[in-house]
Amino acid sequence: MLARRMERVSSSPIMDLIKTTAAGNYLSFASGLPDAGLFPVETLQAIADDVLDRDGRAALQYGPAEGFPPLREYVASLLRKRGLPATPEHVLITTGSQQALDLAARALLNDGDRVLVENPTYLAALQAFDSFGARYEPVPLDREGIEVERAGEVLQTGPHLFYTLPNFQNPTGITMSTERRERLAVAAVNARVPVLEDDAYHDLAYDGEPPRPLVSLAENPFGVYTGTFSKVIAPGLRIGYLYAPPALTARLGQLKQITDLHAGSLTQRIVFEFCARGQLEPAIARLRDAYRARRDVLLDALEQHVTGLAEWTRPRGGMFVFVRLPAGRDAGELLRACMEQGIVFVPGASFHPDGSGTHTFRLNFVSLDEPRSRQGIEILGRGLRELAR
Ligand SMILES: Cc1ncc(COP(=O)(O)O)c(C=O)c1O
Repeated sequence: MLARRMERVSSSPIMDLIKTTAAGNYLSFASGLPDAGLFPVETLQAIADDVLDRDGRAALQYGPAEGFPPLREYVASLLRKRGLPATPEHVLITTGSQQALDLAARALLNDGDRVLVENPTYLAALQAFDSFGARYEPVPLDREGIEVERAGEVLQTGPHLFYTLPNFQNPTGITMSTERRERLAVAAVNARVPVLEDDAYHDLAYDGEPPRPLVSLAENPFGVYTGTFSKVIAPGLRIGYLYAPPALTARLGQLKQITDLHAGSLTQRIVFEFCARGQLEPAIARLRDAYRARRDVLLDALEQHVTGLAEWTRPRGGMFVFVRLPAGRDAGELLRACMEQGIVFVPGASFHPDGSGTHTFRLNFVSLDEPRSRQGIEILGRGLRELAR
């Protein structure tokens, strides 16, 4: 017999969609993946060779649960630039930031606990919270992020966690204003609500640096901030991190120990060397240029082919544009029609923990080049016109 927890564990509808469409010749706006064509393969290969030559035995040995000390130190310096007063003791290196979300949820949630979330929000976080028996208090977003009055009211009722993605939110691409960050950071501290701030897309900023992290704006003993090298180096390395007050970081380190002992010794060293050799900043600059251009292409194509048929977000960073059809229209039906014409995207309902959002969908703008992106949006426009008839 499986444990009761497994009743709330299932595979992600997005993963299923990506799997079923991977073999076909689709123009795909569905994935959550960065463009593999931009991975710094040669640089990583040279670094891996050097690491194994110089430090091979340690790189293949078990290591400390909290992470490779030079990488912890490096991440702390990175976080200080973002406005967090980080020392290595604040930092835990994780197996992707997905693990950081899982560890935080595991440490902070009991069965049946309420989590304040943006509606819509990142699906794999909901799946992690689901597995610990969470219930949700979903609050919609507008152009400046989560609706602040409503979120403030929910915070006053003392939920057990506030999960937020203030920068280039997945799936909407929306960025929360500084004013809202300040209000909600303070409200969470006053109501003693732990905050889990997911900043996976921090460096994919196309129109200037993002505002300061929410958890840096009020001292919360249960404020956790997560980040990752997945979007700026490569996700297959599986190196992410979390930042929290040292006492909490130490407790989360104990939890990590029983989960997977530690993140990969070799990949932590590779990431550290990549950064120490000054490769991170140019890599970020290259990605920003490439992805900014792709965002602009997608927005331009939407303007050209979808104006009057739907509304969409205009993200200042990240990987996603979120589209809203007129109420009552069904994005699933649109998807079926579009798949016959060779394009796929992700219907928005699964990002909404309250089951709403059937008239919404998400477009990944980084994975298709300009001609294919324009072609795909032209097809989408045709599908929308048919559906509107
Ligand atoms: C919002 C958000 N958080 C966290 C992650 C997890 O990424 P990783 O585990 O590769 O760091 C993702 C991946 O797509 C994401 O979109």
